[in-house]
Amino acid sequence: MSLHRVLGIETSCDETAAAVVDGGTTIVSSVVSSQIDLHARYGGVVPELAGRAHVELLTPVLEEALAAAGSDASGAGIDAVAVTHGPGLVGSLLVGVAEAKALALAWDVPCVGVNHLEAHLFASLLEQPDLGWPLLVLLVSGGHTLLVVVSAPGRYRLLGGTIDDAAGEAFDKVARFLGLGYPGGPAIDRVAGDGDPQAVAFPRALLGQGYDFSFSGVKTSVVNWVRKHPDVATADVAASFQQAVVDVLVAKARAAAADVGAKAICLAGGVAANRLLRRRIEEVCAADGIGAFLPSRALCTDNAAMVAAAGWWRLANDGPSPLSLGVDPGLRLVPAPF
Ligand code: KG4
Ligand code: ZN
Repeated sequence: MSLHRVLGIETSCDETAAAVVDGGTTIVSSVVSSQIDLHARYGGVVPELAGRAHVELLTPVLEEALAAAGSDASGAGIDAVAVTHGPGLVGSLLVGVAEAKALALAWDVPCVGVNHLEAHLFASLLEQPDLGWPLLVLLVSGGHTLLVVVSAPGRYRLLGGTIDDAAGEAFDKVARFLGLGYPGGPAIDRVAGDGDPQAVAFPRALLGQGYDFSFSGVKTSVVNWVRKHPDVATADVAASFQQAVVDVLVAKARAAAADVGAKAICLAGGVAANRLLRRRIEEVCAADGIGAFLPSRALCTDNAAMVAAAGWWRLANDGPSPLSLGVDPGLRLVPAPF
């Protein structure tokens, strides 16, 4: 069977997304409906609300993505359906997986379950299909902070991860404490532009100590410091916090890339949209004579094009998932050792 066009579906957290990708690398259409406004007044994603919103939004988002690809509810021209089946919020994942299985059955095409973390790794391949291997990927999102060596598509070795908060979670929590709103990452990115990154020396946890990360300490430091210095400029705190987090992310990614002889460092996940992180990664890669792959912002944050791309690759290499495909909220990128 020729496998050209894959419909991707993403509902693992607070973005409802659908996309059609051709040949695993060409985006034909991509629609993302964010639930930010729905969750903003709670300062974070409310799982039950997210699941209900996916139910309402998925049909119009699918219609739009299919129409933009010259298809419709008949699925004309669609060769397979790929869907995120973990990790994520259980109720949200169920909405996407149920829809994907129903469409695959109705259209008589294969369905494949995709690991959301693997999908983030495929985002950069959509823009740079000829990435060199091995690649060091820093995957930084609201739920994850991982350093991964990719020796070829689908071949991953986990070097380290966070032992407490994810990087994006730290951005979100600090932004909420500073009254900057939700989601916190873009807010801190914006406000930090007007602040002094040297104003406060927040801790750089585990710096120079292997490839694991810890971000709960820096968050607590921000809270304690602001309580002790209530007159401090918010922009200075935001800039100093961002600098502390980015220093650690960049130092560890750089050391890991040198360690494994990576041809390039690649960013993935929502925090990869951060301007300071992007600039610093570009600088250290240029200094070290290796490549820097920074996916466009729309491909860093959750989207369905990356799901379709990863699904295309999984289908070509492992074949389809059974229609008994379930959701796995705690799915890992690399299986945990026994
Ligand atoms: O990958 P993503 O869209 O969803 C998850 O799978 O988690 O990542 C969302 C995270 C949020 O924590 C958000 O605050 C963060 O990415 N983020 C940023 C920026 N844009 C989004 N963090 C720092 N700077 C940004 N510009
Ligand atoms: Zn994500």
